[in-house]
Amino acid sequence: MSLLEIKDACKRFGGVQAISEVSFRVEQGEILGLIGPNGAGKTTLFNLITGAIQMDRGSVLWDGREITGLRPDLACKAGISRTFQVTRPFGRMTCLENVYVPLLENQPNLKGKARQQESARLLGVTGLAGKEAWLAESLNLIDKKRLELARALAAGPRLILLDEVLGGLNTMEMQDALKLIKSIRDEYEMTVVWIEHIMGAIMSVCERVLVLDMGRLICQGEPGVVCQDPAVIEAYLGEQADA
Ligand SMILES: Nc1ncnc2c1ncn2[C@@H]1O[C@H](COP(=O)(O)OP(=O)(O)O)[C@@H](O)[C@H]1O
Ligand SMILES: [Mg+2]
Repeated sequence: MSLLEIKDACKRFGGVQAISEVSFRVEQGEILGLIGPNGAGKTTLFNLITGAIQMDRGSVLWDGREITGLRPDLACKAGISRTFQVTRPFGRMTCLENVYVPLLENQPNLKGKARQQESARLLGVTGLAGKEAWLAESLNLIDKKRLELARALAAGPRLILLDEVLGGLNTMEMQDALKLIKSIRDEYEMTVVWIEHIMGAIMSVCERVLVLDMGRLICQGEPGVVCQDPAVIEAYLGEQADA
């Protein structure tokens, strides 16, 4: 049984068909890449999976159980965590306090020093050791992304949905982020679905890639095969021509 299965998902916003009959499976333990030009529907797909918005048609199966339209907090409780393309920390709270929030929800019995230690550990995992007491709003972009990830991990997920965690990073920062994503799967045994606009980055980490274009799944398979697919090349070249 697949960990997650999306069947015939459809979503329309006014005149825009954002998602058209999209079906795919996510297998336990894989890093699945989700790529596609701007406006392809990638973030919308995450919003449908996590219940942030409702599907017009289609279904979401989690561990074989239908969870279509489950509220975001309940989807999170069920084991699906996400990061946001535009980071959303509690700016006036410290990094440690930002991590407390999902941790409290996930492990309510963890109190005092134990809670503090666990939060600090998660900040360490994502590269924020030493910044526990910093206000979230004072972090730079890469550190805000690290905090976003620490918060997602604190919810204790089995599946983590990453939405463009590399956006705005320089080459060195990108290499660190790639290592971090691999370690989430390898050391913490999580399943990862990773949206990225930058095709090259995804190709080096993912075992399997899905390609969305104008709301449709136009290709899926191993990275080496996907990047040579004529429909994928056309979608990306078309975008360059539009730019
Ligand atoms: N909440 C919304 N209301 C109206 N239109 C939306 C909304 N969210 C996304 N869209 C539209 O749906 C399409 C897909 O957007 P999105 O999923 O954000 O693409 P991507 O993440 O691949 O860049 C775009 O045309 C976008 O303008
Ligand atoms: Mg997006």
